[in-house]
Amino acid sequence: MTEFDIPLVCDWRNRPHVRRFYQKAPLSLDEAYAKLLPRVRGEDPTLAHIATLRGCAFGYVQSYLILGTPSYAEQIGVSDGIGMDYFIGEPELVGRGVGKAMLSAYLAEVLFPAFPQERRCIVCYETANAASGGVLTSLGFRREKELIEDGVPSTMMILDRPS
Ligand SMILES: CC(C)(COP(=O)(O)OP(=O)(O)OC[C@H]1O[C@@H](n2cnc3c(N)ncnc32)[C@H](O)[C@@H]1OP(=O)(O)O)[C@@H](O)C(=O)NCCC(=O)NCCS
Repeated sequence: MTEFDIPLVCDWRNRPHVRRFYQKAPLSLDEAYAKLLPRVRGEDPTLAHIATLRGCAFGYVQSYLILGTPSYAEQIGVSDGIGMDYFIGEPELVGRGVGKAMLSAYLAEVLFPAFPQERRCIVCYETANAASGGVLTSLGFRREKELIEDGVPSTMMILDRPS
């Protein structure tokens, strides 16, 4: 991802299908730059990537050390692991196998190689988000526990590093 992708990512995050679970409040372009510019400049350790299909950008994935945000680690009750957040920005591509392909490639080619000291990826998703639960299950994540995250019923899913 580069800084030139930020307006597109901001636009995606304001689309209804992304607002439903990923971006609960509208995001202004200024807020998007404030959040994402440090990531593309390497000042924030969160890794941010744009997913492309035949050269066209369609989605966003980010990953980070969960312990990098101690308050989050404490809230979800873990003391290790790599976090991952994701969305397909183009609504016509949702529910067609693209999310599974995007995350499968991301886990193998970006996330696990980027954090060699970590042994597992841990994702908490809003339990009502059936598509997120579906894609994680389909990728081999196991259901670890139910929890409340920021007041919302959520499910923790874990995928161990492939041996
Ligand atoms: C979550 C998201 C990335 C999933 O990608 P997707 O392309 O829609 O999912 P896929 O078509 O690749 O489906 C992957 C698996 O999930 C299942 N699945 C997809 N949508 C589902 C749904 N609504 N309910 C139940 N299962 C579902 C599919 O059947 C498939 O399972 P299979 O491989 O066993 O057949 C995508 O829906 C999205 O970007 N949603 C909006 C943003 C969002 O919610 N992000 C996550 C926040 S935690």
